[in-house]
Amino acid sequence: MERNLYHVLGAKQFDRPELERLFAAAEKMEDVVAAGGDKRLSGKIMTTLFFEASTRTRLSFESAMHRLGGSVIGTENAAQFSSAIKGETLEDTIRIVTGYSDVIVMRHTEIGAAKRAAAVAGVPVINAGDGAGEHPTQALLDAYTINKEFGRIDGLRIAMVGDLTYGRTVHSLSYILANYQDVMIDFIAPENVQIPPYVKHYLDEKGIRYQETQDLNAVAGSADVIYQTRIQKERFPSVEEYEKASGKYIIDGAFLDRMRKDAIILHPLPRAGEIAEEVDADPRAAYFRQAVNGLYIRMALVAKCLNLAD
Ligand code: CP
Repeated sequence: MERNLYHVLGAKQFDRPELERLFAAAEKMEDVVAAGGDKRLSGKIMTTLFFEASTRTRLSFESAMHRLGGSVIGTENAAQFSSAIKGETLEDTIRIVTGYSDVIVMRHTEIGAAKRAAAVAGVPVINAGDGAGEHPTQALLDAYTINKEFGRIDGLRIAMVGDLTYGRTVHSLSYILANYQDVMIDFIAPENVQIPPYVKHYLDEKGIRYQETQDLNAVAGSADVIYQTRIQKERFPSVEEYEKASGKYIIDGAFLDRMRKDAIILHPLPRAGEIAEEVDADPRAAYFRQAVNGLYIRMALVAKCLNLAD
């Protein structure tokens, strides 16, 4: 009999009630971690299959599994150290890994790879980033962080800054924010890496207000959240295109002076110079708190995928 699997493939699959349940579960996971973890995933195995580099996503998923008593197999460099290098298809790799584990967390270079994996997987698949497509679990931890910092998401003004074309986190976060009332999104990017039309169409359908601009200073004093991103050098078609987009928006001490006192700065990280280290000590710099929240959200997600949530 075919099992009804809970995959995490894209941010559009989350509606508001599900987000609220997930955030409540993540909050409980904060207590689980404080208590030293539990054993609810004892005997369960996660495969982490990363065809692209990662620090936070892979390690927080692995930590999540360990914190809940499960174990992890996998490769941090699947492009070189899995049989993909011998020509094995993604589908065959997933069919094989299905036999070895209970949940697969995969990052891949190609948009849509997680959906292809889920189509043949016999266990839940979690999309840990598919090229320039989506990064749904990052958006979930971003939204969890915003909700935790402000006590709400409704009514907030969120400025997404930097590489909005190749930066998959902003696509997923836009889809998540579409679940909330009276949010306003400012897309601040160089002309050659603005937010893609398909993201704007989705926001239009959902009635979400947004504007596109190249002027970060124009919204510095009114945004509740400044969501800075790295210019994704590795995804540009040419060095010339990358250079057109790089170095435009730097958050530094002078920028802090222009921000609201109750605003926060988020960044999915890693950063590559777009937030100066002098900003880190300011209480509004929430990006390291944000990265820790990734552990709690991923614990809640894995427990849900394995039907072992509270
Ligand atoms: N935010 C994020 O996806 O970080 P990593 O690339 O280090 O996983």
